[in-house]
Amino acid sequence: MPSALTRRGFIHSATTAGVLSQATLASGPAAAQGTRRGAPLRRASFDAGWRFSRGDFPGAEVAGYDDAAWQQVDTPHDWSIFGPFDEKEPSGGNGGYLPTGMGWYRKRFTLTRSQAGKRVRLEFDGVYERSEVWINGQLLGMRPYGFISFGYDLTPHLNPPGKPNTVAVRVDNSLQPNCRWYSGSGIYRHVWLITTEPVHVAPWGVYVRTPAVDGERAAVEVDTQVVNDGTAPSRCTLVTEIHDPNGQTVQTASVTAVIAPGENHRFAQRLEVAKPVLWSLDTPALYSVHSRVESADGRSDIELTPFGIRTIAFDVNRGFLLNGRHVKLNGVCLHADGGAVGTAVPERVWEERLKTLKAMGCTAIRCSHCPPAPEFLDLCDRLGLLVMDEAFDEWRYSKGQTKFGYAKYFDEWGRRDLTDIIVRDRNHPSIVIWSAGNEIVDQTRPDGTATLSMLKEVIRGLDTRPVTAGCDNIAADPVSTPPQFLAELDVVGYNYVDRWHDRREKYYAIDRYDYPKRLFIGTESTSMGGPRGVYTPQPTRGARGENRRIDVEQLQKFIQTWDYVSGDFIWTGIDYIGEARWPNKSATSGVIDTCGFAKDGYYFYRSLWTDETVLHLFPHWNWAGREGETVRVRCYTNCDTVELFLNGVSLGTRGFAFPRPGMTDRYGVYPPRASALQTTADLHLEWDVPYAPGTLKAVGVRGDKPATTVEISTTGEPSAIRLIADRDHISTSAGDVSHVRVEVVDAQGRMVPTASNAISFALAGAGRLIGVDNGQPDSHESYKGQGIRAFNGLALALVQSRGRPGAMTLSATSPGLSGATIGIVAS
Ligand code: GAL
Repeated sequence: MPSALTRRGFIHSATTAGVLSQATLASGPAAAQGTRRGAPLRRASFDAGWRFSRGDFPGAEVAGYDDAAWQQVDTPHDWSIFGPFDEKEPSGGNGGYLPTGMGWYRKRFTLTRSQAGKRVRLEFDGVYERSEVWINGQLLGMRPYGFISFGYDLTPHLNPPGKPNTVAVRVDNSLQPNCRWYSGSGIYRHVWLITTEPVHVAPWGVYVRTPAVDGERAAVEVDTQVVNDGTAPSRCTLVTEIHDPNGQTVQTASVTAVIAPGENHRFAQRLEVAKPVLWSLDTPALYSVHSRVESADGRSDIELTPFGIRTIAFDVNRGFLLNGRHVKLNGVCLHADGGAVGTAVPERVWEERLKTLKAMGCTAIRCSHCPPAPEFLDLCDRLGLLVMDEAFDEWRYSKGQTKFGYAKYFDEWGRRDLTDIIVRDRNHPSIVIWSAGNEIVDQTRPDGTATLSMLKEVIRGLDTRPVTAGCDNIAADPVSTPPQFLAELDVVGYNYVDRWHDRREKYYAIDRYDYPKRLFIGTESTSMGGPRGVYTPQPTRGARGENRRIDVEQLQKFIQTWDYVSGDFIWTGIDYIGEARWPNKSATSGVIDTCGFAKDGYYFYRSLWTDETVLHLFPHWNWAGREGETVRVRCYTNCDTVELFLNGVSLGTRGFAFPRPGMTDRYGVYPPRASALQTTADLHLEWDVPYAPGTLKAVGVRGDKPATTVEISTTGEPSAIRLIADRDHISTSAGDVSHVRVEVVDAQGRMVPTASNAISFALAGAGRLIGVDNGQPDSHESYKGQGIRAFNGLALALVQSRGRPGAMTLSATSPGLSGATIGIVAS
């Protein structure tokens, strides 16, 4: 049995993984380029060498169309991110006031002799939006949903080897607004050319499940669809091998069948892996299935499908279980842009962001509110992060902000798109739950439950994982989500559980009482966001940000205390472009800014979600002109107590304990932490400090010993620039970048937290600058410029190779500051 809805919970023991090649498994994102799925010869990157022009060009689908004046680009390519920002852009605040409109891409390619007689297929991981694709003037199809992956068989329309072919893609993102957040425009994800024998594994044709797993063995069920695109029946053998995480073959099985021309034959095999290494957050071990189709004429086709072996379950009392062990889904919602690179995000940018989130103690990502790029899921598989893969932000009914949103297409495309999402993604071990949608208007409409049932039936026909949806009306006035809608969900997803009535105090407890068999997940909640490094020295109690802090802390206490709440996803992990109001162009709900820099809130979650010693003190200590005024100093910590000093004078010791331990063993005996000084029931500590320049020092104590000391000093004026590259060696792949952090420092080398100096960059040698950012929501400087102002002391430059090995030098200058230079080598 691959799954069962048991009385106590939803048990699912199927997994699998996306389809990484061994190169990816072995050497990370840079190697992923061009080889993500299948053997390299079978699947080739089709990213390089497109011609692009903004606008509409009737006739541009014809092979002979003159595109010589068009711009040369490589995909992934997002034309919106080049700007400029303009309050009058039709994309409005949703789209970050960036341009949208229409664009065309064309690419010429010639088959080699070795491709003669083969099937050739073109796959797009994502085109935003309403794409139409032609080959040699022949229309292949149209896909309205910009977040979907799709492909076309080119074979019948191709010229013989040696004679050029032309692919043309028309992208129409002119109907605005169509999305509630920044979507980007264009062929913003990878493109692949897949060459196979006439008898071959179907696209997304391998489905791997591990329905029975214990310490001794794992059953691995492999369904393989093999298509005969030839003209004669084919007697073929499917050889399925399982390779372990070290690449050793640990199982082989073969099966033979005769497949008629045009037939899509499904092979079902069951193999066994002895002593399986389980996929987990700490050891995300990936196995792979190698599927080889051998035809009687000696031709063979091969497909690689990585997968993981693990069990998952949602339990009515214990919450989420991974391999039988309770794991709290300490989650973050993420949108799909990567800051300065827009939605054309190099793999390395995601890798760095996901690692930063993992270091915060984040265990789960909600891909809000659409399926992500395939390599994003590959990274989650590889890094050990759990994923909620979400299909839609709209079903049949439009949200007010999106006149041209997905509701326009749902009736015609909803089933098809959902099918494609599940079939593309169901092999990823990271995915543990599907979300059918976010804050769907249909929730409260008479036909909403029927629509949900239809979507659930689609998912249930394809996979065994549980289904949820982010519901924002569960206890809402005047109309709330009806119980029959919620009853359709395997796990009920709550957006902003604390928004209504006494749920501010009781959260899930009311529904837990009323529906004792319900499985709970917090699909969305407020986070400790806000712009990075912006402070009010004496915040007013009751001000919005202040209340938010209290709300967030209270909610976390509940979630962390009650196992039956399987987890919660904060809105958001990272700031994102769009969903802003002019002059802002980006939303600051993240605990990481658009540059990838951690904000104070990051340390709040880290202090709760990890065991590492955390003591994060804020604000900065540069309040010249406010001497003697009170500044509220705060810290997020998991130390038992913290003592604060200003210029060596103690300002007192504060402490909180969470969770607060009761007596153990016998009356009057407490575990050690309970003896710590508790001055507050909040999850932060604070001191009101009369400002005097100098040094604040916080000493954190864990147990009875000083565990950490943190200092913040008043800095001098900006004096110099410091550049810090996360990596000074990068690969030549377009998926790789170096993140260069730019700090404005004083004469003593201390970052000046209020600095806003204008920085200019110059890049010499074998590289290029692909984006600049400072995380400032109302900056209208271009992400693609050659310079940017520092925002609260920091900025970012993203550096990439030019596709060839060589050395490069990034220089940064600013009037009145000593400049800096850093060397990076691409190899
Ligand atoms: C939620 C919604 C998100 C985002 C957020 C902003 O209700 O699901 O997509 O709009 O509000 O606070």
